[in-house]
Amino acid sequence: MKIVLGCDHAGYPLKNEIIKHLQGRNIETIDLGCYSEESVDYPIYGKKVGEAVMAGQADKGIVCCGTGIGISIAANKVKGIRCALPYNDFTAEMCKKHNNANMVAFGARSLSVEEAIRYTDIWLDTEFEGGKHERRINMLED
Ligand code: RB5
Repeated sequence: MKIVLGCDHAGYPLKNEIIKHLQGRNIETIDLGCYSEESVDYPIYGKKVGEAVMAGQADKGIVCCGTGIGISIAANKVKGIRCALPYNDFTAEMCKKHNNANMVAFGARSLSVEEAIRYTDIWLDTEFEGGKHERRINMLED
């Protein structure tokens, strides 16, 4: 599995922690920036990561900003992206089970590193249920 990541300045430290964790799980990562805490605009990075996922450069994407909100909105503008914003164990599980989220977003100012890593693992380790949920996902694309 390969995961592409991106962030703005606020999400930069969290993104680095998530990358370390993924590498510890032997998951290949691609880091599309930003690469420091110098102020940048989150729409650029949400779009970059979303486009990389849709281009097949990676299986899934993870993005981080201050709240996770702006960068998830940006990612969701890319056709085919379903970027969830998990905020507890239940939503981390359900965003894969029912929504087959191909990306997740986290807020470095609203979650601890431990929470973001736990939600990442739950999302990665949960299977999509398919069935009626497949139909609803197809409706999103239409
Ligand atoms: C940057 O200050 C902040 O607005 C951004 O990281 C994010 O929280 C936007 O949704």
